[in-house]
Amino acid sequence: MKILIVYATTEGQTRKIARACADTLVGAGHSVELVEAPGDAGLGVARHDAAILAASVHMGRYQEEMARFAAAHAEDLAARPTLFLAVSLAAAGTDATEHADLDRIAQDFFAKAGWQPTRIAQVAGAFRFTQYDFFKSWAMRWIAAQKGESVDPHADREYTDWAALRALVLDWAAAAEAHPA
Ligand SMILES: Cc1cc2nc3c(=O)[nH]c(=O)nc-3n(C[C@H](O)[C@H](O)[C@H](O)COP(=O)(O)O)c2cc1C
Repeated sequence: MKILIVYATTEGQTRKIARACADTLVGAGHSVELVEAPGDAGLGVARHDAAILAASVHMGRYQEEMARFAAAHAEDLAARPTLFLAVSLAAAGTDATEHADLDRIAQDFFAKAGWQPTRIAQVAGAFRFTQYDFFKSWAMRWIAAQKGESVDPHADREYTDWAALRALVLDWAAAAEAHPA
């Protein structure tokens, strides 16, 4: 298949996740176009057989660029198999209230975009202390402390389960090939 991957990132973890998806799919024989939202003006979702969109949660929302991209291409996205990867730190934990919040954030996003993906996955992100300014670093240390996590404020801490991500993407691609929409 020809697969489009569009991602939005603030500190870089979703770019890393999108690249891992691209490498996995290319390894499985697919061709992949990897673009950071909003992408080229001429970017055609319609040129691809399937699409993955990936964005991360900051203060309870995904990046505005991804909201604009999904809304602008809702019709073409709805016409093919899609996977939405929602990256956050709450996804790394087991708090039921936080997971309910992640579901609500995703459903609000799809309602506003006017598009419902074929599959959605909540993916654990990372603390990226090397990318934070003073205020973000302070806020994220506070959040870590609230969760009882001890973090090194000079190092990154990754929670992404790479093996599970690769398995998910291959499973989605196999289903997309079997049911091209
Ligand atoms: C300022 C800020 C706000 C964040 N807000 C949330 C949040 O509301 N919920 C959550 O689960 N994670 C939150 N996170 C964690 C990010 O989703 C996580 O670090 C993710 O890996 C970021 O992906 P990115 O590097 O692709 O931007 C926040 C992180 C930062 C720096």
